[in-house]
Amino acid sequence: MSGQEGDSLCVFINGKKVTESHVDPETMLLPFLREKLRLTGTKSGCGGGGCGACTVMVSRYQPATKTIVHYSANACLLPVCQLYGAAITTVEGIGSSKTRIHPVQERIAKAHGSQCGFCTPGMVMSMYALLRNKPKPTMDDITQALGGNLCRCTGYRPIVDGCRTFCQEGNCCQANGGADCCLNGEGNTNESEHEKPQLFHQEKFLPLDPTQELIFPPELILMAEAANPQTLTFYGERMIWMSPTSLEELVQLRAKNPKAPLVIGNTNIGPDIKFKGILHPLIISPMRVKELFEVSEGADGVWVGAGSSLSELQSLLEKMVPQNPEEKTELFRALIQQLRNLGSLQIRNVASLGGNIVSAYPNSDLNPVLAAGNCKVKVISPGGSREVPLNQDFFIGFGKTILKPEDVVVSVFIPFTRKGEYVRALRQAPRKEVSFATVTTGMRVRFSKGSRVVQEVSLYFGGMGPTTVNATKTCKAITGRPWDEETLNQAYDALLEELDLPPSTPGGKVEFRRSLTLSLLFKFNLEVLQKLKEANVIKDEIPEKLQPLPKEIQPSLQDFQHVPKDQGSQDPVGRPMMHRSAISQATGEAVYCDDIPKTDGELFMVLVTSSRAHAKIISLDMSEALKLPGVVDVITANDVPGKKARPTFGYDQELLAENQVFCVGQTVCAVLADTKTHAKRGAAAVKITYEDLPDPIFTIEDAIEKSSYYEPRRMFARGDVTEAFQTCDQVYEGQIRLGGQEHFYMEPQSMLVVPVGEEKEFKVYISTQWPTLIQEAVAETLDIQSNRVTCHVKRLGGAFGGKVIVTSVLASITSVAAWKTNRAVRCVLERGEDMLITGGRHPVLGKYKVGFMNDGRIMAVDYYYYANAGCFVDESVLISEKILLHLDNVYNIPNMRGHSAACRTNLPSNTAFRGFGVPQGLLVVENMVNDVAMALGPPADQVRKVNMYKGPSALTYKFEFSPENLHRCWELCKLKSDYSARRQAVDQFNQQNRWRKKGVALIPIKYGIAFAESFLNQAGALVHIYKDGSVLVTHGGTEMGQGIHTKMQQVASRELHIPTSKIFLSETSTGTVPNTCPSAASFGTDANGMAVKEACEILYRRLEPIRLKDPKGSWESWIKEAHMQKISLSATGFFRGEDLYYDWEKMEGHPYAYFTFGVCCSEVELDCLTGDYRTLRTDIVMDIGRSINPSLDIGQIEGAFMQGLGLYTLEELKYSPTGILYSRGPSQYKIPAVCDVPLKFNVYLLPDSCNPHAIYSSKGIGEPTLFLGSSVFFAIKDAVTAARSDSGLSGPFFLDTPATPERVCLACASPFIKKVPTSKPGSFKPWALDI
Ligand SMILES: Cc1cc2nc3c(=O)[nH]c(=O)nc-3n(C[C@H](O)[C@H](O)[C@H](O)COP(=O)(O)OP(=O)(O)OC[C@H]3O[C@@H](n4cnc5c(N)ncnc54)[C@H](O)[C@@H]3O)c2cc1C
Ligand code: FES
Ligand code: FES
Repeated sequence: MSGQEGDSLCVFINGKKVTESHVDPETMLLPFLREKLRLTGTKSGCGGGGCGACTVMVSRYQPATKTIVHYSANACLLPVCQLYGAAITTVEGIGSSKTRIHPVQERIAKAHGSQCGFCTPGMVMSMYALLRNKPKPTMDDITQALGGNLCRCTGYRPIVDGCRTFCQEGNCCQANGGADCCLNGEGNTNESEHEKPQLFHQEKFLPLDPTQELIFPPELILMAEAANPQTLTFYGERMIWMSPTSLEELVQLRAKNPKAPLVIGNTNIGPDIKFKGILHPLIISPMRVKELFEVSEGADGVWVGAGSSLSELQSLLEKMVPQNPEEKTELFRALIQQLRNLGSLQIRNVASLGGNIVSAYPNSDLNPVLAAGNCKVKVISPGGSREVPLNQDFFIGFGKTILKPEDVVVSVFIPFTRKGEYVRALRQAPRKEVSFATVTTGMRVRFSKGSRVVQEVSLYFGGMGPTTVNATKTCKAITGRPWDEETLNQAYDALLEELDLPPSTPGGKVEFRRSLTLSLLFKFNLEVLQKLKEANVIKDEIPEKLQPLPKEIQPSLQDFQHVPKDQGSQDPVGRPMMHRSAISQATGEAVYCDDIPKTDGELFMVLVTSSRAHAKIISLDMSEALKLPGVVDVITANDVPGKKARPTFGYDQELLAENQVFCVGQTVCAVLADTKTHAKRGAAAVKITYEDLPDPIFTIEDAIEKSSYYEPRRMFARGDVTEAFQTCDQVYEGQIRLGGQEHFYMEPQSMLVVPVGEEKEFKVYISTQWPTLIQEAVAETLDIQSNRVTCHVKRLGGAFGGKVIVTSVLASITSVAAWKTNRAVRCVLERGEDMLITGGRHPVLGKYKVGFMNDGRIMAVDYYYYANAGCFVDESVLISEKILLHLDNVYNIPNMRGHSAACRTNLPSNTAFRGFGVPQGLLVVENMVNDVAMALGPPADQVRKVNMYKGPSALTYKFEFSPENLHRCWELCKLKSDYSARRQAVDQFNQQNRWRKKGVALIPIKYGIAFAESFLNQAGALVHIYKDGSVLVTHGGTEMGQGIHTKMQQVASRELHIPTSKIFLSETSTGTVPNTCPSAASFGTDANGMAVKEACEILYRRLEPIRLKDPKGSWESWIKEAHMQKISLSATGFFRGEDLYYDWEKMEGHPYAYFTFGVCCSEVELDCLTGDYRTLRTDIVMDIGRSINPSLDIGQIEGAFMQGLGLYTLEELKYSPTGILYSRGPSQYKIPAVCDVPLKFNVYLLPDSCNPHAIYSSKGIGEPTLFLGSSVFFAIKDAVTAARSDSGLSGPFFLDTPATPERVCLACASPFIKKVPTSKPGSFKPWALDI
């Protein structure tokens, strides 16, 4: 096929014409930009339209209207052939540090909106596209524009704040300064506006000047206006792409090739090709057929071209709504409502109306509304054209409609509504935005004139079967009857009977989905009653007017302290300073591992992983793979020259499985090919046969039953728990299960191993938190000395603990490939592979028995913790130890016992994740305290306060500390959040509302910093001063977004008394600083900062004689002179940390250097009918000593909090009963997005705190705040308690995490939930497991 001569592609990229004569239709814009044009600023985060990292702006000329349109789109789903005649703008096209950076790039960077920076180009481009269309956007525009861009580091607040500076409205925060300050009335301080330190100064920003943007290429206008456009054909290796120019030609082509899909947005076909491996030999693109894009308004409604994008449809309807009487636009408004929540803006900008209808997704958001609204489609085929109603007969099965394969949908008719007709669209999704719905509906009712008698009703549902379904029986039960309680009650019963789901239904959530049909109908009922009342048809009291949950993000406050008055103006320590790479990251110039250009002869490696959870490998057949084009070799365990397994904490982990597999996703072999595409095809052709082994273990309960543990299991005891229970007023037993968490670093695992070619030397470029471990792993695998392996880490696009152990295994395999072929080998996992293979945070089951007194004092607790460790030990035993070492959190409970076990299961191995077990352990502790409060009655904060450490305290492990700052954080947080008044307001709200409840919670943390394994508390640095006075700093820490290089620059600047502009950090390398420790445990700055400080002090001392001799000289003159005097201008620094340890036998020790304290207050509003919630406000007070860089530290606080919010309320891993991970991408696994940011998000750094144990009196902060995300969980629990009380339930109840809408809604125990029959566990095979 590829041999055939096709047309040339013509597209403009960043103002330059690109003509491509042999373009493969299978190529998406993203690899075209990155690999062909070397425009690597556009990043790949998921490849499926779900993360926004690849966002670009597409501009097209529309001849019909003679206008140019600009819109954001995901480059990963844009076929290059579809872009014929378009102009593409990438992050490189809008600004550069070499010429001029664009105001969007500047503002996101300077507002501290870029940490690891991997999401930043996508954020920049989403915002840029918005500004091209609307230079003064509203906050709503901004949150819509950024809704489809995920960031795992920042918590979004700073990105939003940077973008907010373009808004006309809402530009406060004057931080309590002006009389109209948005924060007035909240924790006012006496400092005036000018005295308050700011994180950034927006008055210094470049103005936005739309005249400076790239103009649309005139050549493309001429092309689009051409009189006789020609059919375009592109031939690829396996696929042909045809783009006809007339409807007639399209119809003929379709008739001849009925199996060829019509591709417009490619948002359905693209993911199918990529993720399901479906091959379409021919694709037809109707993009140039004008009839598919025409709109014609008539008396009864509007015909909309089926090719119109969903954004175009939304704009059209939004334009028509105010032009028509309200009663006529009920359906239009329902569609707008649905469109606003459908996918991301990038998806809506390309996805077509016709595509959405024909794709017939079971949970399509449009189809239920279109069907309920009596819409129809105009279809054309060689036999002629016809109109087909969109009703229950149209949707016949999963992805199937009654249309014939040769049919082309030309347009869709959307009618006006009539008087007395009401239409609503309601949906419930796992995340509020950019998430396919769990259940989605379109409901319409029409009343006889002036009456409440139903003339006609349609109730369509998505998510309740393989396709859109109509509740016909329910409609029958309602038609002809008055719309009242009795009719509705019968309707609920009919609906429940009619929309049944078997307990094993794919997608699970059966009880929830069934209850949602009822509660959404109930919501519709409330709205209809309201309408009937407004129309004076009824006089009934409406039970409750349901407003949507609030969503406007408000300005927030970041409160930190000035540096001391006597600190020199050049000394940057303690001042907010932008991440040193933020501008490079925002311009797309920052180089990540996979941005390194391909070297000559380089190969790409794709892993072949096990499809069985526990099986013997019977055979491995790679013959077919080796025959495929481009495939060079297949690497198996037999190829490993050195150690075939990585020794980890007493157990071995095989690099490549030889005889047996222990989980789905374990690597068996790896295919090498000239390109990624070829390697992927090769991997798919490898055949492995297995013989299943009996009884795989997946859940914690299975592991407990079969005593499947990694040793040692740990136990800790203080006091006499058993005896104490006898003397307590009450004893309660409870439990909580905490789901796991996927790291979802935006940059997947990436590495490049390059053989130098002589003396067995290798260079490894890799995204890891621990270069030394990689060096060691590669050396041991290849059986060479460590001095032959140099590991280079420039930066990581996020890591969070996930780029240590597993990365060392992947690097070892890649190095074997490079060794065997003697060629450079690159391995970059795709998102789905990364999620499948690499494991994440341990799911934990925590059980407790607690004894307490009636005044709230907790006297004894017995805890059992079980962590699901997966099939390799990894760091699981250490994690279970850390859980026990934080058993007390902030509570002085005299009798405590804790047992923890790492369960061995047949799931991918879990590993370190920000907090290292503490977020799981402490949730159990706080849930226990919460249960005590619920059992006794007083608000939980009172029980918390009663039990806190007071005065100088000895910890469970006999190490003294002062809880004074903890109490200061607690009191300050209560004050700043106005806790008492809000508690009262929440209670009042809950009394007044039945279906909406609010909840508020105050959660403390005490977090131990540094490694309990003493040898890890060390660090080295190497500082060079060059003859021109410039300084190069290297140290053992890796830059993964936390800003460690920026802080080291600040340290060096202070110690050398020179501005930071003279100090550079290039990378972390084992060749400069050896034997480093991982960047982990919130200890990077503490350790490396001291090492850098020491190296700089040495150098500054060496310069002393010269400085004294020439006090007026400049830095440069002193350096020149030092060089002339043969003084060494290079020094190493070393930090030998405290000798921390813990003796598990004696149950004593000193495992941490010090504690970071914090307290957080969160308030939520909950929709009890759907389980949907909003975090209305969060206030965090953190004691981090004296911050070295408040902007970076606040960034860590906010980012960790949001990750915690995700862990406790949103992120849900789903495994099949055979151990296959279902949730392998952002479509199935939801991390927090912009829509999840607390609407008010204030952070305060505790003033007047110091810390003698760390550099410049600072404290480690990377991990502690993550746990504070649980304040949202406990606030939800508080709201659920109020809802349960309305249902007559009181006292402690079980609510596992994540507290998803499903769990929350079921816990609310509303009458609708009670109506749904439950299936007995064990009586059916569940779709997914609770692991
Ligand atoms: C990340 C992501 C999130 C999403 N979220 C949502 C969501 O929340 N809610 C929701 O409802 N949808 C959602 N979608 C689905 C999306 O709306 C649909 O994929 C889209 O509307 C399909 O349109 P398209 O132009 O991209 O179709 P394409 O992929 O181009 O084509 C899809 C199919 O439709 C057929 N087709 C297209 N046009 C015609 C025509 N005129 N006549 C005959 N057949 C035609 C094609 O032959 C093909 O089989 C999401 C998709 C993605 C990728
Ligand atoms: S890489 Fe394109 S959306 Fe994620
Ligand atoms: S800065 Fe957004 S993902 Fe790292």
